[in-house]
Amino acid sequence: MNEAEEGAQEWKARRYAEHAGFVPALGQAVLDLLDPRPGERILDLGCGDGVLSQKIKTRGAEVVGIDASPDMVAAAKRRGIDARITDGFDLRFDAEFDAVFSNAALHWMKRDPGAVVAGVHRALRTGGRFVGEMGGHGNVAAITVAAVAVLEQHGIKDAASVIPWYYPTVDAYRELLQQHGLAGEYLELIPRPTPLPTGMRGWLETFAIPFLKRLPEAERETALDEMVARLRPVLCDEKQRWTADYVRLRFLARAERQTQDPTTGQAIGSRNNRDGSPGVPG
Ligand code: BEZ
Repeated sequence: MNEAEEGAQEWKARRYAEHAGFVPALGQAVLDLLDPRPGERILDLGCGDGVLSQKIKTRGAEVVGIDASPDMVAAAKRRGIDARITDGFDLRFDAEFDAVFSNAALHWMKRDPGAVVAGVHRALRTGGRFVGEMGGHGNVAAITVAAVAVLEQHGIKDAASVIPWYYPTVDAYRELLQQHGLAGEYLELIPRPTPLPTGMRGWLETFAIPFLKRLPEAERETALDEMVARLRPVLCDEKQRWTADYVRLRFLARAERQTQDPTTGQAIGSRNNRDGSPGVPG
């Protein structure tokens, strides 16, 4: 994620671990889908603080973690991960991974999801797999509506344009994968109501920064209170426990043949035709 372009989301490793430590903790299902094998070389796209990269490494695979946040990359390095600061829209790997893995990161890459998928395809060896989980269609819908409504209440016009997340349907994402040379073998939308350890305020303070940044600083605390108040009737139970309305899009896709530059032999594109023949370089 490019922080500036993705709405100035400020990824601070300590704050993330406190308010969203459940994110890697709930990543077991997608790790099982990845099924990393000893000796495989795996790219963890949006590795965050490296909790899941470490689990992949424990299974005997070689892992490269990438993230746009220097703070997260530093945290991943402290776990012993080969972590690098990299923009997900600009992946420069060339047919060198057996798998690309991603958990809870792709929905932040809204500006050009096709560029991300094209880079993933380029990074994979033919037959390599792209396994991931991200927010899917309808993810945090109530939270998003509340945030947009509060911005409008504060005079922000076209507040929906501030939404920083990309939550595709199964059909839309399968199509995007296919356009970039990745054959979707499994895609599923999975509702996953998620208890929030530090309540809705903690979640909003961590993740709703792109909305809050649209307001003068003096209005932000009030706006947070207003978002929490709007959400209380639907996401807070009688024991004051908050649950977020998460929906996961979990998928596995496989890289079709790379299109190669005849002079350099390097992968130059990713748009294979549906029949597998090389298409327009992506
Ligand atoms: C998610 O994992 O679905 C998510 C996390 C933070 C903000 C929005 C969505």
